[in-house]
Amino acid sequence: MERKPFILANWKMNKTVDESVDFVEEFLPMVADEVEVEVALAPSFVSLAAVSRALAGSAVGLAAQNMHWEEGGAFTGEVSPVMLRDAGCRYVILGHSERRQFFGEGDGEVSRKVQAALREGITPVVCVGETLGERDYGKTFDTVGVQIHGGLADVVLESGREIVLAYEPVWAIGTGKTASPEEAQEVQSFARTQLADLFGGEVAGSVRILYGGSVKPENIGALMAMDDIDGALVGGASLEPESFAGIIKSVIGET
Ligand code: PGA
Repeated sequence: MERKPFILANWKMNKTVDESVDFVEEFLPMVADEVEVEVALAPSFVSLAAVSRALAGSAVGLAAQNMHWEEGGAFTGEVSPVMLRDAGCRYVILGHSERRQFFGEGDGEVSRKVQAALREGITPVVCVGETLGERDYGKTFDTVGVQIHGGLADVVLESGREIVLAYEPVWAIGTGKTASPEEAQEVQSFARTQLADLFGGEVAGSVRILYGGSVKPENIGALMAMDDIDGALVGGASLEPESFAGIIKSVIGET
């Protein structure tokens, strides 16, 4: 099954509106004709509208880093799927380990958000991954399996709707410690079997599974050479146009 490589920048809580737009202006000419790879940027909520305008006419997509599951109402401080769609978002990152660790998000919330995103025509990028303790205790597959089954509970994939999965071992995020390509492949191929349990083999074969955790231009090639690694969710190395474009160029070298 042919799956188009997907490289998604997660800027986390970084960059003002001006800094975000400056990035886009520098970055777009660097990746102008890289059509073999799908690319998207996830700036903070306040920069979405300006980044959307700066990206207009390019193939680079827009993503949000989180959202609420309701369409609107009395939820102070939250942002709805309708607002994200209106701001031009094609994707939303859901269940990132920082949301789980610092904001108490669990698989129940992730599942509601995934369903809400799909209803609004936004592709959810669902993050799963084990902590170092879970890996050391041999619980990696248990953790990832529970997160996939819980986070995708009650999700129905109608035709034309897709999800993206991101495997991000928590011990590799922002630490400079990448999972080896073989370690990541082992979990990602397991993740695909879990998707097959939920959605059947055909859909599971079409879902893109990204790897995330200290991805850089130097290590993306070996990761992407693995069968079940279809792209990357990139934090630190996506903050500078040169390094993010370097990752995309390395992927093209591999495809
Ligand atoms: P990192 O972050 O690339 O800085 O490790 C990845 C992520 O948290 O999505």
